[in-house]
Amino acid sequence: MNLTEKVLEQLIMTDEPVSGESLAQKLMVSRNAVWKAVEALRKQGYNIEAATNKGYILSSQNMKLCGFQIKKALKNNDNILFFDETDSTNAVIKRIAEEGTAKEGTIAVALSQNAGRGRLGRSFFSPCGGIYMSILLRPSFSPEQCLMLTVAAAVAVCRAIEKNSDAKCEIKWVNDIYINGKKVCGILTEGAIEAETATLKYAVLGIGINLKLPNGGFPEDIAERAAAVYNKEITAQKKAQLIADVVNEFFYFYENIEKKEFMKQYQMRSYLTGKTVSYERYGEVFTAKVLGIDENGGLEVLQNGEYITITAGDVSVKPQGEKNG
Ligand code: BTN
Repeated sequence: MNLTEKVLEQLIMTDEPVSGESLAQKLMVSRNAVWKAVEALRKQGYNIEAATNKGYILSSQNMKLCGFQIKKALKNNDNILFFDETDSTNAVIKRIAEEGTAKEGTIAVALSQNAGRGRLGRSFFSPCGGIYMSILLRPSFSPEQCLMLTVAAAVAVCRAIEKNSDAKCEIKWVNDIYINGKKVCGILTEGAIEAETATLKYAVLGIGINLKLPNGGFPEDIAERAAAVYNKEITAQKKAQLIADVVNEFFYFYENIEKKEFMKQYQMRSYLTGKTVSYERYGEVFTAKVLGIDENGGLEVLQNGEYITITAGDVSVKPQGEKNG
């Protein structure tokens, strides 16, 4: 860690103002070096106030998030990798998981991604103004049960958003969080399979939340369906708290995943229940009425008088007025 980072860590970990003198002593450098580090941090966008005779303090209005702030909100969790920008936090976690030493629960967080990944091979628009995070998991269950991770995470994200805003969240099967009928968050769970035993080596749970509208708005292809949780930028402290709440809510469910405590909430929050949807199977497009979510997270539908459970793929809401098949 360089001196600038060390000063930032001290400012974040202390809630009271810290004098240049005591920072200099603690970090064993001159007061001038501390002053230079504070100036460098201000240039990077951190809002640091200087209280007369008291010293430096990170403003409660500071907007620029950093890894130390997430570490603090997560009660000194040291397994956090933080990036202003990266390719994809899922890719980051996969790389360290492959190296073999990374601990379960390691979290990568980025303020933007230049190669964000979505479900079904799609890309995920990941500009500044969102939060992109991935968690390394080493579950002892079979690859088929990975759906439960997505289901648990969807409920965890809803609960965390609702704790930190006035929004009411719904879940569009299987992995999208909706507010007022628009997508504010997507979840992508990726697993790596051990070829010889067909067991799960590890799983990566990736969550991307639109916190505020991106500068310039959403791209045309998603503009009608996408929205943000907040109508203006929130402080870094609030962002850190939201991240910590997502992680804590998820691990509460994950630690007893076989109990499926999240399933009732998932079912109750289902955005699609009662709606008519269309989906593609074997190159053919079907239309069906959604009846609900079963206890394994499958989508129960009524299609041409036949009860069917959809367990994979994508469904879209059929615009009202269109003829049902
Ligand atoms: C989807 O809506 O299709 C799923 C989107 C998942 C996006 C998150 S953002 C953090 C993590 N890193 C990625 O590249 N993707 C996931």
